[in-house]
Amino acid sequence: MERISIRPLMSLEDFRECERIQLEVWGALGEASEVLSVTAKYGGAVIGAFASGKLAGFIYAFSARRRGQWIHWSHQMAVRPSHRDRGLGFRMKMVHRRMALAAGIRSICWTFDPLESRNATINIARLGGRAEEYVVNCYGNFASRIERGLPTDRFVVNWRIGSAEVARRLTRSGEHRLRPHTPVVNEVRAGRNGFIVNRRIHLGLGARRLLVEIPANTDEMRAKAIVLARRWRKESRRIFRHYFSRGYQAVEFLPPSRDTGGRCFYVLQRNAVRPPDARETAVRTS
Ligand SMILES: CC(C)(COP(=O)(O)OP(=O)(O)OC[C@H]1O[C@@H](n2cnc3c(N)ncnc32)[C@H](O)[C@@H]1OP(=O)(O)O)[C@@H](O)C(=O)NCCC(=O)NCCS
Repeated sequence: MERISIRPLMSLEDFRECERIQLEVWGALGEASEVLSVTAKYGGAVIGAFASGKLAGFIYAFSARRRGQWIHWSHQMAVRPSHRDRGLGFRMKMVHRRMALAAGIRSICWTFDPLESRNATINIARLGGRAEEYVVNCYGNFASRIERGLPTDRFVVNWRIGSAEVARRLTRSGEHRLRPHTPVVNEVRAGRNGFIVNRRIHLGLGARRLLVEIPANTDEMRAKAIVLARRWRKESRRIFRHYFSRGYQAVEFLPPSRDTGGRCFYVLQRNAVRPPDARETAVRTS
């Protein structure tokens, strides 16, 4: 069994190792050690997860202002593929939360690809973050091996680390149940190679809570069926932009489980910003 430890990073050697992880995970260098070093010293957090003494993942976050409030903007989190799904990402976020609260920060924000179900599991289901904004092609043409030429659309997640809601979420786990009778925005069907395809999209639904299904295997889809992956980007963009502009946010994520039949769904919730269009619009997609 590997010994895991999580701690803030301070040495140039550690920062160089973060560069290697970036190359391994994204195939490109986003933040050089110099940036990590000054951020760790003067404003933000650089945190590492060590497995048997070797760096297996890191978080890089800087201080920023959003909506008039000082926050940490967590620009990068990566865990080496060999060490994923063992809770390292979650544990680094816990350490980040402690450090940020101690520094008087109440919110940590970051972006993630809405079609990455693993990220949705950790960011929304496990941590209790909320996706508050949808940004089209956020980073433009991004030289990342994960993206594989897809537009870099992103959710902006706000993790309100000081809130009672988040504190409650962190003490519960595995409580993500599919509530019956919640309207589903996109009806899907099984396509080729085990990838799901949107069959019908309903715009203009007015219930307070709505479900949006996404594939549980987008990385594989990008590698094996890029045309379908592009179609998912286009159609999910249309759904999220439509409902976000009507006051909905993604407040829950139901990871693939026996309860969901291996499928996964965002729960969008309306926050009474603007009443939705009462007209029911159904769009057939194929
Ligand atoms: C995102 C990332 C940092 C997560 O790290 P990690 O250490 O694997 O995360 P954790 O193990 O804490 O959590 C992963 C969760 O996703 C779940 N998961 C795994 N595969 C999944 C899938 N296909 N769909 C949905 N959830 C999935 C795991 O079961 C786990 O949940 P659990 O703890 O409830 O069992 C890592 O996947 C990564 O480096 N990805 C590439 C870079 C990236 O996307 N970074 C974030 C944006 S900058």
